[in-house]
Amino acid sequence: MPTPINLQLGWPSPRLFPREELALSTASSLSNLETVKQGLLYGPSLGHAPLRKSIASWLSSFYLPKSGPIPIERISISGGASQNLANILDVFSDPHITQRIWMVEPTYFLACTIFEDAGFSGKMRGVPENENGIDVKFLREELKAFTRQQEMHNGVLPPVKPPGSYDKIFKHILYLTPTFSNPSAKTMPTSVREEVLALAREFDILVVSDDVYEWLRWPADKSAPVDSKLAPIPPRLVDLDRATLGEDPWGNSISNGSFSKIIGPGVRVGWTEASTKMISRLSLNGATQSGGAPSQLTSTFIDPLLRTGALQKHIEEILIPTYRSRFHVLMSAIQNHLEPLGVKVTTGAPYTVAGKDEVLPAGGFFTYISFPESLPSADVIAKKAMEDYALKIAYGEMFVIRGDKSSLERSKSTFGRGARLCWAWHEEEEIEDGVRRLGELVKAMLTEATNS
Ligand SMILES: Cc1ncc(COP(=O)(O)O)c(C=O)c1O
Repeated sequence: MPTPINLQLGWPSPRLFPREELALSTASSLSNLETVKQGLLYGPSLGHAPLRKSIASWLSSFYLPKSGPIPIERISISGGASQNLANILDVFSDPHITQRIWMVEPTYFLACTIFEDAGFSGKMRGVPENENGIDVKFLREELKAFTRQQEMHNGVLPPVKPPGSYDKIFKHILYLTPTFSNPSAKTMPTSVREEVLALAREFDILVVSDDVYEWLRWPADKSAPVDSKLAPIPPRLVDLDRATLGEDPWGNSISNGSFSKIIGPGVRVGWTEASTKMISRLSLNGATQSGGAPSQLTSTFIDPLLRTGALQKHIEEILIPTYRSRFHVLMSAIQNHLEPLGVKVTTGAPYTVAGKDEVLPAGGFFTYISFPESLPSADVIAKKAMEDYALKIAYGEMFVIRGDKSSLERSKSTFGRGARLCWAWHEEEEIEDGVRRLGELVKAMLTEATNS
C-alpha cells in the first residue's frame, strides 16, 4: 500500500508554524510581570485590550475600510471561529424566535453540529451557491414563502430565553464563508454582498461570516511576477454593514476571524468584529461573565506577534509563497491527470476586476472539483480512493446541510458530484502524487462504467 495522502485535511503543515516568532513573543510577554498578571487572571469580557488594539490596527491596514480605521470598540477576542459561533448563538438566537438557520451549501460541515448544540436541529436550510457564491434570489423566495407560512399558522412560541436580558434576538441566521469559501473556494463579489445585506435588513437576519482565509492570497495566474499587485478582494460584509448602518445600532453582520489558519489551530484565539453594540452584548455571555475572556493567556502571546509585524512578515514571506506554490502544483496536477478525464475545477466566476497593473487573486486552503456524470457518486469515489490508493478526499455529500432533504436532493446533481482538495497540509510532491492517484482511480472507474 502506498504512503497515505490526505487531501481532505484543512490544517496547516506544522513546518509552517511561526515557531521562533511565537517563542520570542511568548518569552517577551512572560518576562513582563504586568502582562503575566493580565494573562493569568480572569480577562476582561471583551478580551486582552492590547491585542484588541493590535487587531483593530492590523485589520484596518489590511482591509482599508471605506468608513476609516476600525475602532477598538468593534473588536472582541474569541476562542476561535468555532467557539465564537456557539457564543453568537448563545446571545443572539433563541430556538423559538430564530426561525431558520440558512447555510450556504455546500457548507463548512462542522458548523452543523454547533447549530444543533444551540437547539436548531431540523431548522437548518441550505441556500445553493451559484457562480457568485450564493443564490440570493433563491434565499429571498424562501424567506418570503416561509414568512407567509408563519403568518398563516400564527405559530410563534414564547422565547426559550428569559425576556429582558436578551435584547436582540434575530429571526434568522445566515451562515457563510464569503471569501475563498470552505469547501467551494468561491468568493462573493461586492454586489452580491450588498444584496445579502439588504436582505438581512429586510428579514431581520444576522449574517455570520467566517472570514478566516482572506490573508492567504496570491496571483491566480502561475506566470504572474512574484511582486504582482493583486486586485483587491471585495469588502467584508461587516465593512459594508458599518458603512451603511442606519438607525439600528445593532447592524446585521458579524465577522468571525481566527488565527487558526495563519498561526496554528491550537492557539485557540480569534476575534469578532461587529457593531459596538453587538460586540458589547456578545461579551456579556454567561461563560465569559463567569470565566473571563476566552484564551486570555494566549492572547498576551499573540499581541507582540501582531504589534511587531512578525505575523504579517510570516504570512508574506512563508505562508503565501508556500501556499501559492502548492496551489499551482495542485492546479497543474489537476490539469495533467484529471481534466483530460472530464474532471472540472468549479470554483465560481471572477469576483473582482483587475485594474491596470493588477492581477486576479486566488487564495485560501481549497479547490473544488466535479467528477464526470458517468461516475458513481463522490462518496463511492472517496471510499475507493481510500481503500485502493490510500488517498483521502472530502466528498461532496459531506457538505450537505444536515437535516435538509432538499439540500441533499440538490447535492446529487451539483456539489455532491464533486470533492474538495486542500493544499495546506501536504508538500508539493505529495499533492502531485495524490492527484495522480485520483487520476488513476477516475480512469479505472470510467473504464468500468464504459464496460458495464
Ligand atoms: C469556514 C471555517 N470556519 C471555521 C473554522 C474553524 O475555525 P477555528 O479553528 O477558528 O475554530 C474553519 C476551519 O477549517 C473553517 O474552514
